[in-house]
Amino acid sequence: MLLLVVLLALLGVALAQIPSIQTSVPAKSRAAPFVFTPLVRIVVSARDAHTGSPSLLDFARTFRDDLASVSGWPVAQVQLGVEPSSLALVPTVYLSLGAKTNFTYLSGMSTGEGYEFDISRASYTIRATEALGAWWGTRTLLQQLVLARSTAKNTLAVSIPAASGRDVPSWEVRGAMLDVGRHFFTTSFLGELCTYASFFKISSLHLHASDNLWDPRFLYGVDWRKLYAAFRFQPAADSPLAGLVPQRNESWSRADFLALQATCTAHGVTLVPEVDTPGHSLVFTKWKPEMAIPGQPDNLNLSHPETIPTVQSVWREFLPWFTSNEVHIGADEYDRAFAGVYNEFINDMAAFIKSESGKGVRVWGTGMPPANSTISTDVTIQHWNFPDTVPVQLLEQGYRVINSEQAFLYTDGKTSYGGDQFPQELDADLFWRTNWAPNIFSASDPSNNTTPDHPGLRGSVMALWNDWGNNATTPLEIYFQLAQSLALLGERTWAGAGQLTRDEFDATYPLLSAAAPGQNLARRASVSGTVLRLPGRARLGNTGAKASSVGPPYTLSFTVSPRAAKGVLFSGPDTKLHLSNLTFEDVPTGTFYPLGVELPLNTSTRVEVHATRSETRAIIGGQTYFWETLLDMWGDYMQPANMSFVAPAASIGVEGFVGTISDVVLRAD
Ligand SMILES: *[C@@H]1O[C@H](CO)[C@@H](O)[C@H](O)[C@H]1NC(C)=O
Ligand SMILES: *[C@@H]1O[C@H](CO)[C@@H](O)[C@H](O)[C@H]1NC(C)=O
Ligand SMILES: *[C@@H]1O[C@H](CO)[C@@H](O)[C@H](O)[C@H]1NC(C)=O
Ligand SMILES: *[C@@H]1O[C@H](CO)[C@@H](O)[C@H](O)[C@H]1NC(C)=O
Ligand SMILES: *[C@@H]1O[C@H](CO)[C@@H](O)[C@H](O)[C@H]1NC(C)=O
Ligand SMILES: *[C@@H]1O[C@H](CO)[C@@H](O)[C@H](O)[C@H]1NC(C)=O
Ligand SMILES: *[C@@H]1O[C@H](CO)[C@@H](O)[C@H](O)[C@H]1NC(C)=O
Ligand SMILES: *[C@@H]1O[C@H](CO)[C@@H](O)[C@H](O)[C@H]1NC(C)=O
Ligand SMILES: *[C@@H]1O[C@H](CO)[C@@H](O)[C@H](O)[C@H]1NC(C)=O
Repeated sequence: MLLLVVLLALLGVALAQIPSIQTSVPAKSRAAPFVFTPLVRIVVSARDAHTGSPSLLDFARTFRDDLASVSGWPVAQVQLGVEPSSLALVPTVYLSLGAKTNFTYLSGMSTGEGYEFDISRASYTIRATEALGAWWGTRTLLQQLVLARSTAKNTLAVSIPAASGRDVPSWEVRGAMLDVGRHFFTTSFLGELCTYASFFKISSLHLHASDNLWDPRFLYGVDWRKLYAAFRFQPAADSPLAGLVPQRNESWSRADFLALQATCTAHGVTLVPEVDTPGHSLVFTKWKPEMAIPGQPDNLNLSHPETIPTVQSVWREFLPWFTSNEVHIGADEYDRAFAGVYNEFINDMAAFIKSESGKGVRVWGTGMPPANSTISTDVTIQHWNFPDTVPVQLLEQGYRVINSEQAFLYTDGKTSYGGDQFPQELDADLFWRTNWAPNIFSASDPSNNTTPDHPGLRGSVMALWNDWGNNATTPLEIYFQLAQSLALLGERTWAGAGQLTRDEFDATYPLLSAAAPGQNLARRASVSGTVLRLPGRARLGNTGAKASSVGPPYTLSFTVSPRAAKGVLFSGPDTKLHLSNLTFEDVPTGTFYPLGVELPLNTSTRVEVHATRSETRAIIGGQTYFWETLLDMWGDYMQPANMSFVAPAASIGVEGFVGTISDVVLRAD
């Protein structure tokens, strides 16, 4: 009996998905399963193939690539056709827009994100009403294949039990916000992030694309121009806005941004761009100091005649880039003395953006004293902080609300102020303890929570801030903070609370995360064990390693005898290890992290580098050293912190290195 329970529990654990499926009814006990084999083909309803943007066919083609990568099979190109007969011999995945269900979110709003499925011997059928719904259905299918393969005896014939059911997200807004203003990220990193998030049915990535570091010693002193501030959308070189982006190497060209947006859209993820004004606006006032409130260079003077036309000219330039039907205008943490003009500014901007582009507007919930005007209820309020805004009161007043309450949904790159203001990742214990879902705003005061089906409750966006700037984290570390958080958020914004147990989540998440197709944010080596072995004296230049970057955990060991203190020992697209001071370079941000150890010239030294997701250390002559950074905690104190780096594996002894490197071993642990 006990054995049976354990077996069933194991079976149940293996079948849980993230997010959970709404209903799945097993077929009659003798029904044959659908069996994935390398012969599997994908057929798209010829009638529906070109409907939608991306079309059903576009999504099907991305799905084909994912299926090929998850299975390792050369899956045939997508075909157009009709629903396969129940006698068909080749296992067929069939996608159509023939769903009968009128899908709605819990709010009652109608949605195209739902889908129906029928799994039988001959076919795995996914029917939606819009192409996006079918896309989410393909994520479900891929997850089932991954989980079934993990226990299958024969990975060339993987059975999915016959069943049918339907699935629809509970909330419309299922998103993550990344602070790309205080930390630069490449569009290739962000594209991989969209692809990863999509596997867990996250549907938007909110890009907080302008901001500045906050340190009062700079901001309110003579050196305010030296404080880091950035705006990421790159104006044309001859644009009157060029002065807004002096550091063009840390901005995205239109072509790069459009390619990123296309990648995200192809995976069902909408980019929601944010330009934050009138607070957090140092990047604007470095460009046009006359627009600042005197003594507060991060706050725009909304009564200055240049301010609103300038902010509008920025939106006018970049609105044509964005395909989302909504943008975010920031509007948080502004000087409370200017509540009246602040409200009018928001309403003016919302009207301006609507008339320029037809798009809607979101703002951060901001506590302002009562004024002679109020913010229009057309503006969605993204609540993040009590008592800045009280969501139940906003809903009562007719606003639509997104839950980004910091007590549940905030994280900060590497660490938060004081080390414990926010967790490193969304706090799973808290999520299960409070049955968190987007209707939960307070763990302690139920009167501040609403019902899951409140028509004004749009959903939830988690946030990862980068308060400590470029040199606090590598993209790899940001991935580690987001990876499980996105899965957890996907579960709770799609399926709600009370579906997966903690044990089910913990058992399934690692399998799904490791298999998420179309990206390799963790920089996993395709082969485990030894990725690179160069016995004896290595030939300098390309290593020929199968992976050019290898994520932690790994061990990289080598013997080096330099003839001059210069050059790069190991180089890859993500990182370089310079000889001088054994300095790791994070290539995407152009940041250098010296170990502070100079290796002797003309002498052989054995170096072992060990990395985990939270640190990188070197062992040299029996001594251990850590690569660290120093974080400026809002001017209060400097906080040392460890760094985790990808191992560079593409080339060895380059960029001016002279000497020998020998007995190199790079092992993925
Ligand atoms: C679907 O349901 C929603 C909400 O009940 C309703 O507003 C909408 O008209 C329905 N659509 C169709 C096509 O039945
Ligand atoms: C904002 O600019 C206006 C127009 O130049 C000026 O009259 C006003 O004093 C400024 N506001 C502040 C707070 O300095
Ligand atoms: C509201 O007050 C602000 C100053 O706080 C003023 O500039 C604005 O004209 C007022 N608006 C209305 C509609 O009275
Ligand atoms: C919600 O939280 C706010 C701020 O913490 C508090 O003032 C209020 O009484 C709470 N309850 C309701 C129903 O607003
Ligand atoms: C190391 O060797 C090179 C070449 O043999 C020589 O030029 C250099 O002076 C030596 N440096 C030291 C510190 O011994
Ligand atoms: C951009 O250039 C600045 C100044 O040269 C440099 O400090 C920064 O690291 C560069 N950023 C990147 C992403 O390379
Ligand atoms: C080596 O690193 C130490 C400690 O970080 C630093 O003080 C020193 O300036 C560095 N030297 C060089 C040549 O970069
Ligand atoms: C990282 O950048 C901050 C400024 O944001 C600076 O104060 C700090 O010294 C830098 N850390 C290192 C290790 O260079
Ligand atoms: C870096 O990691 C090591 C090992 O976990 C730890 O002992 C050390 O305190 C960490 N350093 C910092 C600055 O946090």
